[in-house]
Amino acid sequence: MLYLLLPLLAALFPGGDSEVDPFDVQMATGCELHSGKNFIGYVQLAIQGTDFLSLQNETWLPSPKGGKKAQHFCRLLNLNQAFTHVVQRLLSNTCPRFTLGVLDAGKAHLQRQVKPNAWLSSGPSPGPGRLLLVCHVSGFYPKPLWVMWMRGEQEQLGTQQGDFLPNADGTWYLRATLDVATGEAAGLACRVKHSSLGGQDLILYWGASQHPTSFYIIQITSFANSTWTRHRGSGWLDDLQIHGWNSDTGTAIFLKPWSKGNFSDAEISDLVELFRVYDFSFTREMQAHVSEFQLEYPFEIQGIAGCELHSGGAILSFLRGALGGRDFVSFRNSSCVPAPEGGSRAQLVCTLLRPYGDIFQIVEKLLYETCPRYLLGVLEAGKADLQRQVKPKAWLSSGSSPGPGRLLLVCHVSGFYPQPVWVMWMRGEQEQQGTQRGDFLPNADGTWYLRATLDVAAGEAAGLACRVKHSSLGGQDLVLYWGEKGLGPRWEIGGDGAQE
Ligand SMILES: *[C@@H]1O[C@H](CO)[C@@H](O)[C@H](O)[C@H]1NC(C)=O
Ligand SMILES: *[C@@H]1O[C@H](CO)[C@@H](O)[C@H](O)[C@H]1NC(C)=O
Ligand SMILES: *[C@@H]1O[C@H](CO)[C@@H](O)[C@H](O)[C@H]1NC(C)=O
Ligand SMILES: *[C@@H]1O[C@H](CO)[C@@H](O)[C@H](O)[C@H]1NC(C)=O
Repeated sequence: MLYLLLPLLAALFPGGDSEVDPFDVQMATGCELHSGKNFIGYVQLAIQGTDFLSLQNETWLPSPKGGKKAQHFCRLLNLNQAFTHVVQRLLSNTCPRFTLGVLDAGKAHLQRQVKPNAWLSSGPSPGPGRLLLVCHVSGFYPKPLWVMWMRGEQEQLGTQQGDFLPNADGTWYLRATLDVATGEAAGLACRVKHSSLGGQDLILYWGASQHPTSFYIIQITSFANSTWTRHRGSGWLDDLQIHGWNSDTGTAIFLKPWSKGNFSDAEISDLVELFRVYDFSFTREMQAHVSEFQLEYPFEIQGIAGCELHSGGAILSFLRGALGGRDFVSFRNSSCVPAPEGGSRAQLVCTLLRPYGDIFQIVEKLLYETCPRYLLGVLEAGKADLQRQVKPKAWLSSGSSPGPGRLLLVCHVSGFYPQPVWVMWMRGEQEQQGTQRGDFLPNADGTWYLRATLDVAAGEAAGLACRVKHSSLGGQDLVLYWGEKGLGPRWEIGGDGAQE
């Protein structure tokens, strides 16, 4: 959607304008499921890290910090009702369908389940020869979560759990610390159980590098009527897209120089050919069997297939299909297994597919032989990129005042990789529980931007500091103090000093 707005923005900020040339535009757009039923769409646009405008109830609203430019830009957008309507439709119709379909893999109709992100860091040393291991777990929903430091299957009873802190997006943050002798840290792991993980605990080993561990392909095919279909395909390493698919030409798009892993060009072109035939025949076969499968236009089919590396080196493969956003069938032990949500129709489809043994054999080879070999190869080929550590830069500013006599302190953290990061407003060693974390926004170079705000009485801002922990900082937290005299923000750049 940013592509729709960019020409307008470019027109508004002509190249000659030295004040804003070059400029960064960050946009968060999407939809969120509220109270299990209603999707609320949102668009938030920031320029140079400052809120610029948002879309609410079909109206573009300038942010106070956006000044005259934002007001002018919103006026232009609001005049263009057709455009606003298209955006609103994307948010209120397309986005929810997409989200229901892919992200929640059919569970969204029951309840929002958001998987936790976790990472490790060391805290302030509890004393000579001792280490404070910190396991951060963030971004999960719903709230119940179990986290424990473990040695093998042995729970470490010294584990101290912090308070649940809310993230601004309605998800939660929790941390668990363990005070150990320096020599005993090796072999310890932080284990996380959460309903969104479907029984697959998250396990992070102290001292191990944290990098992607799964490769999967997503297919989304929309059937509007008997003649119109659209097929989209993409390949992912965890949440990083590395392949696209051009359905018109039947060709793969390699988004990274290392997207082919260690496969030869010949093997890649065989696979591409296989997917081309699949793309074509899947669509044709579905259209031919619409009535037999008891389907009605329009409908959408989503598929996800891939393999995942587990601790200890085991690789598990999976293939699941969803219809209209609900689990439908999966592939297990060489056969089609209907999902309970799929009802009798899923059972029927599996029965009808049973005679196609040779297709199952191909699928089996792809899942259990090709995928693991590719996964190991691509993790190695992309290692430098995937395991890179880019230090965050941080700076402070004040946001639009939350009310008379109050200040909104904003801590901007940008340019870091990988995504897991911890940002907190502190007074001394005291975490400020009112800290609100924004959404992760992508920078164009693949790094991330995040901000954390704190609403305080104007007289209480002095002495507060924004503290940032990130794996690239090797335990050296970035700390930025709010201007000591309480006269406003002191801007600081941190992080990449060592590289300069
Ligand atoms: C948007 O509309 C809904 C219902 O139409 C209303 O409840 C809500 O307050 C409105 N929000 C704003 C920011 O105007
Ligand atoms: C099929 O759907 C497409 C896209 O919605 C539409 O443009 C087209 O007119 C439809 N064709 C028929 C025969 O209904
Ligand atoms: C998988 O299939 C084989 C042979 O078809 C069968 O012997 C085995 O019990 C099956 N395993 C499971 C877990 O269903
Ligand atoms: C790619 O790397 C994997 C893992 O190291 C290996 O098993 C495989 O033989 C390599 N070559 C190809 C062509 O898959």
